[in-house]
Amino acid sequence: MYYIGIDLGTSAVKLLLVDEAGRVTGEVTKEYPLSFPHPGWSEQRPEDWWNAVLAGVPELISGVDAKEVRGIGLGGQMHGLVALDDRDNVIRPAILWNDGRTAKETDYLNEVVGREKLSRYTANIAFAGFTAPKLLWMRTNEPESFKKIAKIMLPKDYLVYKMTGVHATDYSDASGMLLLDVQHKRWSKEMLDICGVTEAQLPELHESWECVGSLKPEVAAAFGLSPSVKVCAGAGDNAAAAVGTGTVGAGGCNISLGTSGTVFISSDKFGVDPHNALHSFAHADGGYHLMGCMLSAASCNKWWMDEVSGDTDYASEQAKIAPDRLGRNHVYFLPYLMGERSPINDTNARGTFTGLTMDTTHADMTQAVLEGVAFAIRDSFEVAKSLGVEIPRSNICGGGAKSPLWRKILANVLGIPLDMVTTEQGPGYGGAILAMVADGRYPTVQAACDALVTVASTTQPAPELTRLYDERYQQFKSIYPGLKPIFPKIV
Ligand code: XUL
Repeated sequence: MYYIGIDLGTSAVKLLLVDEAGRVTGEVTKEYPLSFPHPGWSEQRPEDWWNAVLAGVPELISGVDAKEVRGIGLGGQMHGLVALDDRDNVIRPAILWNDGRTAKETDYLNEVVGREKLSRYTANIAFAGFTAPKLLWMRTNEPESFKKIAKIMLPKDYLVYKMTGVHATDYSDASGMLLLDVQHKRWSKEMLDICGVTEAQLPELHESWECVGSLKPEVAAAFGLSPSVKVCAGAGDNAAAAVGTGTVGAGGCNISLGTSGTVFISSDKFGVDPHNALHSFAHADGGYHLMGCMLSAASCNKWWMDEVSGDTDYASEQAKIAPDRLGRNHVYFLPYLMGERSPINDTNARGTFTGLTMDTTHADMTQAVLEGVAFAIRDSFEVAKSLGVEIPRSNICGGGAKSPLWRKILANVLGIPLDMVTTEQGPGYGGAILAMVADGRYPTVQAACDALVTVASTTQPAPELTRLYDERYQQFKSIYPGLKPIFPKIV
């Protein structure tokens, strides 16, 4: 038997074919464009996602007996606003999770409606990039399009809809809309009223492992699969990645170093950060999680290497960083290339290098980029610790986690061991696990993870380096508050 896991990412969709023993037997990646029509805006065409999947699935399953493929599960970039009209056509390009256009609407929600109310209704406050402020933005700036909205969906839900004809979402992804009463897992009537939408415009709610439908006959034919293939509700990409690394149940932690950077703390109980710096969301295992999300993580290194350095050989560049330079860099990098979400919630924040001198080398700056991202991850980590959450170790996943140097820096900046699992395939692997549960192979997501996920290697922190990085982190922490008043003036 085979299961397909789909990771709907920001730069590409990654499709995985996973056999019933959890082995990845096929992998196909299809890229699509990302557009920044104005500074700070970030959009994609949902049709491009669907065309990428339509092209990718036949390639993925070529050579496999199609009858053996039983289910599909997705993990998708969160928060994006996909708006469909009454004929299910996409009204405008999707406004993505890292889009910063809604500063005004976010302020309105937090300051006028008020943080206390938002937190009571949804367990969260507004962040630019969440779906609710985007609805307000559309209502003000594109009123004709707003009036046409018949269905509001999240990115992966659009793909599930295209496959099954069902408008559905799951609790983990719905949590990031700021329309869900996360604790009680139902739409918040108050938030729908505030945003001027009705429950009929929203997708039906499911647990991530629940089967939403099966493939429409024409889609099955286009994929080369049977129409009996089940599609489960899937999860937001961070919850799906957490499933893929076995971060389920109480007390687990997963750090994702992808385009975004996240600290994901799983829990079997609902909980809220009283200051709402961390998100309080439902998890794909039926429980909950707290999460800090930075908007630019591995993408900072990609920007530094591809755009600035003009060098795509990341490993050779990192090999120039001598081990004795770790913990001793006098150059600091603020990784706020798209503004920042957790914990500072500042759309005006920008990236900076600080501390350059005549003897600063290119390698020092590369090191500063890797360290700046690690320090910013620690910012969310510190918030979690201040809530009394104990994080003795963490899983790590995402493109950036493939760098042994970056893992070493992060393990020492956080002062904890970081585990890499054997099948480090991020949200797609979690999606395939959810599809197995939907197909009845495992009774629960936890049981599936227990059977399928194992740790392959651990990066241990070293006490002396942890101490040096602790000093550096204290300096890093003082840079943003100094620059904060300047950022709004230079955008
Ligand atoms: C999470 C978030 C990002 C995106 C990336 O809140 O915004 O991690 O899901 O795809």
